[in-house]
Amino acid sequence: MTTPSENTSIVREMYEQVMTPNYAPMAILPERGQGCRLWDTDGKEYLDFTGGIAVSALGHAHPELIKALTDQANKFWHLSNFLINKPAIQLAKMLCESTFAERVFLANSGAEVNEAALKLARRYAIDKYGKNKIKILAFNNAFHGRTWFTVCVGGQPKYSERFGPKPGGISHRPFNDVMAVKKYFAEQDDKVCAVIVEPVQGEGGVMPATPEFVQTIRECCDAHNALMIFDEIQTGVGRSGKLYTYEKLAVIPDILTTAKALGGGFPISAMLTTEEIASSLVVGTHGSTFGGNPLACAVACKVLELINTPEMLSGVETKSHQMIEGLKAINQKHNVFADIRGVGLLLGCELKAHYQDRARDILTSCVRHGLLTLVAGPNVLRLAPPLIITEQEIAEGLKLLEAGIAEVVSGDSEFRDGTGPTVQIGYKNKNNQLCCGTRGVAGNDHNVLSYKMECLDCGEIYGANGTDVWQRKCPNCQGGKAGIRY
Ligand SMILES: Cc1ncc(COP(=O)(O)O)c(C=O)c1O
Repeated sequence: MTTPSENTSIVREMYEQVMTPNYAPMAILPERGQGCRLWDTDGKEYLDFTGGIAVSALGHAHPELIKALTDQANKFWHLSNFLINKPAIQLAKMLCESTFAERVFLANSGAEVNEAALKLARRYAIDKYGKNKIKILAFNNAFHGRTWFTVCVGGQPKYSERFGPKPGGISHRPFNDVMAVKKYFAEQDDKVCAVIVEPVQGEGGVMPATPEFVQTIRECCDAHNALMIFDEIQTGVGRSGKLYTYEKLAVIPDILTTAKALGGGFPISAMLTTEEIASSLVVGTHGSTFGGNPLACAVACKVLELINTPEMLSGVETKSHQMIEGLKAINQKHNVFADIRGVGLLLGCELKAHYQDRARDILTSCVRHGLLTLVAGPNVLRLAPPLIITEQEIAEGLKLLEAGIAEVVSGDSEFRDGTGPTVQIGYKNKNNQLCCGTRGVAGNDHNVLSYKMECLDCGEIYGANGTDVWQRKCPNCQGGKAGIRY
């Protein structure tokens, strides 16, 4: 197994010098991609079970997407919303024809359309029912983006604490708790303007909503004149085996947000709604410089054309079944997963208590074996491969996954000292030598844990909160042992 080359390490160091420290990316440096595979600058090949976090649904460098992009690039790139453009109108038409929607607002990221959806829900409710109808219900462990409104609606303290005063009127209740939803509505005196819910909580551990839960939300919203917002940013555009997951749950939302896979990797998002609700967005009430950008819309039209076919969507179900059966077989051998869940090609494997907090270790071990995976929190391994993945590639990926898991299961034995944020965690190799020490799990942002390392050769503590340094040599003694797991 290879370690990153000098060149990769230099680029990585530069990354740390010039970028804000809010991410903790893996140690590899990708150079190019094709289909479900990526190659790094050292020539090592990786099978991609991440799809860029449920974005690259058609894989890397899809020839038809390249053509759609370059054809439009040769016409014009940007006009602004003072002018209309054909790709944007075409995209909105395609979205309306294939969903409940009658009106579409186009933007650039998931957070931006959730922001638009929440603003619209408030505006519509105030227009129609008066200034007090502003309450918003969201759910524990939700994730709706990083703008101030959306991150507060998401509500997870690790993303929203220590940024100052929060917008008011937002409440959270346990996910999938039907009684909690009913009780909330009963208490609010018809002041609720919207409920926002993910059909599968993605960042929150790949947790599917039950049909009963979303149907209860629908009933309560109807009874109390509130809007139901479906955040399908991670689950949309075919990932569940339907174009949008609401189709599986026998409910129709009032507003739906979609992003990620919509552009197949080109930034674009859309908020879908009805004509009646959209009527509150009168001229000047909302907007976005790049929303409806012709390059993005031309690509998104092609993405929808390729994904919204019976063959592609039923293929997702077949592949999902293959993945789940393969994961079950791995689990029978290694006994690591407490639960395997999800929809379509968005799957989560929750680790057993014995492997608590080690999803990141499995991910890192898989990288060494040439497989890219994701985590959703410290205990859930998340898989979201491109929808075009083949049966052979799934079989190959599952073998690599098994090798990654086997290494973690058999290779290291863990020692721990202390609890909470100051916990010391280390691993012993097969020869019972300490081979890696970490002190304090510094962060659990998005899909990575970050470590502060203690060199086991000279005792130097290095790495910072928000950085992933475990594979790097000690800067003090250049010790080869620290951070390398055998
Ligand atoms: C369900 C959900 N909503 C919103 C977002 C935010 O999207 P973006 O990062 O494009 O702003 C994400 C991103 O992971 C998501 O999974």
